[in-house]
Amino acid sequence: MASAERGQTKYQINLRRYLRESGVDRDLTRIICEIANASKYIINAIRTGDLGVAGTSNLYGEQQLELDVLSDRIIQKRLMYSGVIAKMASEEVDEVVEVTVRNNGRYSIAFDPLDGSSLVDVNLAVGTIVSIYEGDNLLRPGRNQVAALYVLYGPRTTMVVSTGKGVHEFAMNQLMEFDMVQENIQLEGPAKIYAPGGLRSKYTPGTLKFVRSLEANGTKLRYSGGFVPDINQVLIKGGGIFMYPHLTDNPHGKLRLLYELNPMAFLVEQAGGTASNGKQRILDMTPESLDQCAPVFIGTKESVAFAERCLLEEEGT
Ligand code: F6P
Repeated sequence: MASAERGQTKYQINLRRYLRESGVDRDLTRIICEIANASKYIINAIRTGDLGVAGTSNLYGEQQLELDVLSDRIIQKRLMYSGVIAKMASEEVDEVVEVTVRNNGRYSIAFDPLDGSSLVDVNLAVGTIVSIYEGDNLLRPGRNQVAALYVLYGPRTTMVVSTGKGVHEFAMNQLMEFDMVQENIQLEGPAKIYAPGGLRSKYTPGTLKFVRSLEANGTKLRYSGGFVPDINQVLIKGGGIFMYPHLTDNPHGKLRLLYELNPMAFLVEQAGGTASNGKQRILDMTPESLDQCAPVFIGTKESVAFAERCLLEEEGT
């Protein structure tokens, strides 16, 4: 397969060709390409939608949908009729959607249609996160994912995807197609940047010890408040750590296992990093419910292992 250097102006491989050449089956290719198509409409909605107008009407007297609800509808509509999906779980919807239209779908997906959507109001980056399983059981440990991806809507629109053969970055070109800009992203440690979610005054002793040590070693704080751009920064910079830990008033953390943590853990592991809830690998956790949350330390292996050691020493967990 031809490779692409990041920043190259003459792209060689588009998303579909990459998927075909790396032997990804037709149905899985269809899902990933449907998400790529959906992202064109989502980016358009983000760029042109009225701000802060949920429940109000636009110039033409039409009701406006919140961007996350709209993004959910865009994705669901594309996948509902794709013929390759059995079940869909969206962060925007309480129940799993069983796809009955042309129902011979081999795959099921869990997705967060627009993570960090409140950041659109302040014009910061947001993203779509997708986790893909074979079969129709979504309540399985994340290590069973066959693919995961996110689309980042920043100054540029990019997709970072893995089908279990490394993790690759694609960028939307002027024709709104995705071209590869980086093949086989690799994380190396120790982390030079860290993105710490949650109120520091609520950190437990182990997390405080970990953060103080990062700071003492000159690790730079780089936190945007959007999970997708924050993880993207760790991956594209080739190292770093993101955390949203357990807090003194919230032992389960904030981020959702199915919609956020599993897909990002899959991508980061494919890049040679790891993700832990502080004592256990995220991808080994068995979800008990669709909206289960977990604490997370995710990024370069060395730094995640050090976070686990701090927690063990200070909290004995
Ligand atoms: O889960 C939504 C989300 O906005 C993530 O994108 C982000 O990492 C996190 O919540 C930010 O939470 P907080 O506002 O508590 O830092």
